[in-house]
Amino acid sequence: MVLQTVLQEAEQEYCKRTEKSRKLYEVAQRVMPGGDTRTIAFFKPYPLTMDRGSGPRLYDVDGNKYSDFLNNYTAMIHGHAHPYILRHVKTALGLGTAYAAAIVEQSQLAAILCKRIPGVEQVRFCNSGTEATMFALRAARAFTGRPAIIKMEGGYHGTHDAVEFSIAPGNARDKNHLAWAPIPDTRGVPESVARDVYIAPFNDAGAVEEILQQKGEEIAAILVEPVMGVAGVIPPQPGYLQELRRLADQYGILLIFDEVQTYRLDTGGAQRRFGVTPDLTAIGKIIGGGFPVGAFGGRSDVMALFDPRQSGCLSQSGTFNGNRATMVAGIASMELLNEQAITRLEELGLRLETGMVSAIRRYALPASVTRVGSMLNLHFTEHPPADYTSTISPHKGLSKVVHLELLNRGIFTAPRGMWNLSTVMEEADIDQAIDAFTDVMSKISRFV
Ligand SMILES: Cc1ncc(COP(=O)(O)O)c(C=O)c1O
Repeated sequence: MVLQTVLQEAEQEYCKRTEKSRKLYEVAQRVMPGGDTRTIAFFKPYPLTMDRGSGPRLYDVDGNKYSDFLNNYTAMIHGHAHPYILRHVKTALGLGTAYAAAIVEQSQLAAILCKRIPGVEQVRFCNSGTEATMFALRAARAFTGRPAIIKMEGGYHGTHDAVEFSIAPGNARDKNHLAWAPIPDTRGVPESVARDVYIAPFNDAGAVEEILQQKGEEIAAILVEPVMGVAGVIPPQPGYLQELRRLADQYGILLIFDEVQTYRLDTGGAQRRFGVTPDLTAIGKIIGGGFPVGAFGGRSDVMALFDPRQSGCLSQSGTFNGNRATMVAGIASMELLNEQAITRLEELGLRLETGMVSAIRRYALPASVTRVGSMLNLHFTEHPPADYTSTISPHKGLSKVVHLELLNRGIFTAPRGMWNLSTVMEEADIDQAIDAFTDVMSKISRFV
């Protein structure tokens, strides 16, 4: 009841500031279901309509300014309209955007990725992270001749059928299911797909081993985010990724890292940061410099399956694969993301974490912060969670309040509590966000 009142207050303030967004949302509803075309970006009462982004800021159609601590769910690592990226893209656009032919920038970006990411000997481009994990799984199935996969509870790998299981199953696992039975996250995925999906809790290599002991001969791949992103920026415990590597080798299956978000953690991705090399890697987001992108790569003997000169090769087509704007922006984005930039992001990340944790302590709230590098998540749990189940909180409703209260103070984050940073942020941006966060914690402390 009390929480409901705080939420209503936050919503009223939000509506007062965003009248034009509300009107545009009404128009959008006539032509798009729920006025929306991206489920994860939707929130009630209605999402903002943005006018523009510049550097670390976003401006909505009502003229409100926000510091962007979401960066399109980690993709905009250099903020918005970065002059270096824009310059390259503007020049390239005059040459035409996409033809059914190779362009030199494809092998240039591919060479950068192969040089930087330890597990990537060869790579192919697609247009989203969803496609990247889909093709990585297909490659693993074709290479091993086996149908099934292991994915982690809470793991998000995009929206294709095989991975739409146990992303946010709530407590369903405890009641009706075996630890590793997949729970569909959406209707519309045939039950037959579930037969080839096994679920294990993150940070529990023992559960993976148990599945392999019983079903090892069916399994083509272990698919894992080295740091769980959507589930709440959950880091791997020491030895966990190493143990997955060992199990994959022991059972002759492929280890696939989904680094669509975590590639931002190191110039060589989380695999370099944690010192574990997978067989295949899915990437996306930052490697397109702000344009639609995905890529998957790995061991050259596995990637050879896609060699079109071989009979029976795997087909991987896409009208806009390797298009010029994406390739050029991607190369510029990679050039900007050097070791120095990663170190800077790390420092800013630590500064933000320290400020958030100190606000939580000051008001003795049942909350915690997880962080790896420039990715952070606020949880309403006493202890930082180590897997999906431990993110479940009786105070879940508070996340909604915090999200709206932060928006009302000009701080743009994810409704579920994710924050991440861009290279164009300054210490002052972090400190301003900490002040806003502290103010919000003070407000909600009266209701917890
Ligand atoms: C870890 C991970 N894998 C895959 C995807 C899917 O990427 P896309 O939205 O480009 O399809 C996402 C998107 O957020 C992601 O976070």
